[in-house]
Amino acid sequence: MISDQMVNALNEQIALEAHASFLYLSMASWCDKQGLEGCAQFMHRQSEEEKEHMMRIFHYLSEVDAHALTPAISQVPHEFESVQSLMKEVYEHEQKVTASIHKLVTLADKESDHNTRNFLQWYVVEQREEEALMRTVLDKIQLIGEGPMTLYYIDKEIAAINKAALAAEGGE
Ligand code: FEO
Repeated sequence: MISDQMVNALNEQIALEAHASFLYLSMASWCDKQGLEGCAQFMHRQSEEEKEHMMRIFHYLSEVDAHALTPAISQVPHEFESVQSLMKEVYEHEQKVTASIHKLVTLADKESDHNTRNFLQWYVVEQREEEALMRTVLDKIQLIGEGPMTLYYIDKEIAAINKAALAAEGGE
């Protein structure tokens, strides 16, 4: 039987995933406006992934006869300083999500909630992959550096990373 504390914590995670989905959607829109088509597609895919992360918890809570709650979405920013700082923000957000998932695993351990612990393992792996992906993005941005064609090359590289990520998911 799942505890109330665990249900509440999973509902908070739903809210975090929903926030990430909207933040990344807003970033996609901003990238699109800057003419950064590859970055926009990358952020759209990220946004959809976050929605899927949210829905997995929804379905899990239903499966264990608990109540999944639709979260309030706080306003996300619409403007970003640069594509470089935007990608850094994504990485930092993913680190925050990882810490939250790890806290959930610790709680599941403490409560000997084997079902939830098992359920959360998918997220542990996913977060490791997400962080690795964002480090790849930041490494590329660093390598490209500053120059007259910087944005062009960043967009081209992010488009390629997005294509590889889609292929790895079996989406292309
Ligand atoms: Fe669902 Fe990228 O955290």
